[in-house]
Amino acid sequence: MILDGQSPEAIAEAVRVLRAGGLVAFPTETVYGLGADATSDMAVAGIFKAKGRPADHPLIVHVAAGIKGTEALSRFAQPLPPFAQKLVQAFWPGPLTLIVTRQPGVAAAAAGGQDTIGLRCPSHPVAQALLEACAEQGVPGLAGPSANRFGRVSPTTAQHVRDEFGDALTVIDGGACEVGIESTIVDCSRGAPVLLRPGLITRAQIEAAAGERLSNREVLETPDPRASGTLEAHYAPNAKLRLMDAKAIQAGLDVLGPGAAHIAVWTRVEVRSHSQRVLQRRMPDDAAASAHQLFAVLREFDAEGVKLIWVETPPDTPEWEGVRDRLHRASMG
Ligand code: TXA
Ligand code: MG
Repeated sequence: MILDGQSPEAIAEAVRVLRAGGLVAFPTETVYGLGADATSDMAVAGIFKAKGRPADHPLIVHVAAGIKGTEALSRFAQPLPPFAQKLVQAFWPGPLTLIVTRQPGVAAAAAGGQDTIGLRCPSHPVAQALLEACAEQGVPGLAGPSANRFGRVSPTTAQHVRDEFGDALTVIDGGACEVGIESTIVDCSRGAPVLLRPGLITRAQIEAAAGERLSNREVLETPDPRASGTLEAHYAPNAKLRLMDAKAIQAGLDVLGPGAAHIAVWTRVEVRSHSQRVLQRRMPDDAAASAHQLFAVLREFDAEGVKLIWVETPPDTPEWEGVRDRLHRASMG
């Protein structure tokens, strides 16, 4: 069932489902999340079951902005180190997730049993309306992974979520997600910030706000294999995706000639195919605009049943890091 995110009755209905231990998919500015009451281990078990995700993979807990968010923070997390507080100040509400030390005895299932917890305060107005209403009715946070089956491309529209889970799931429609790729994740539980997943917010912005150098996850002595968003071969479309420069894509199309079929290309520069059956989409020159389209384009290609997706390698500049990361992982699938 798809609910209209603009309607207060729809939000009330969603809260009712959540309080009863059910699942509700909801829009955020990054991608759609599959939400459950983070304080109910039973409700959270429903997420793992629906996604087909191993139960030791930790989930992000979403909290409201303002005073309710502050309350939720102290409910779920131990006091934040100063650099993490600065990140909260600078980027919440927004597309930044912080991994912090968990309050013992709360949200153990959502945290996948770890002694840390991922917290995020999304800026999407519909997400905020939902989180506010939940907090008012005794649900201080929503555990919410991306609303896709394990390993698949994240959904950026309500219809994508329905395509993943069918009509039985309650989905709040808040339109197409503005950012389009998942939040930047910074691990703040190790004394100094570590970038676990790049996103729209860049390294430079995080370092400037935190006043600290940001390490890469490679510095971790035991890079946590349970951080599924950081696994290779995540975000995979059904088709085989290859990253190539535009020249190589053009050369490939030339070799295949008029017989080329079941191929899609996503390039910033124009390439020519001699076949009508090659699906072509243009990648915007702007990194944020490309992120916004990325998962929808991959889903469109899959829906067309292509076997091969050739994507022009994005520029090697900081603002493209999130898109490069998702495309790289998609190419490992
Ligand atoms: O933009 C987003 O972050 C979206 C929207 C819905 O908020 N959510 C999202 O959730 O991408 P998910 O579950 O698909 O990815 C969360 C990532 C996973 O890689 C997970 O392992 C990692 O965050 N994570 C969560 N809690 C963690 C923790 N305590 N320690 C290490 N990694 C954690
Ligand atoms: Mg995900």
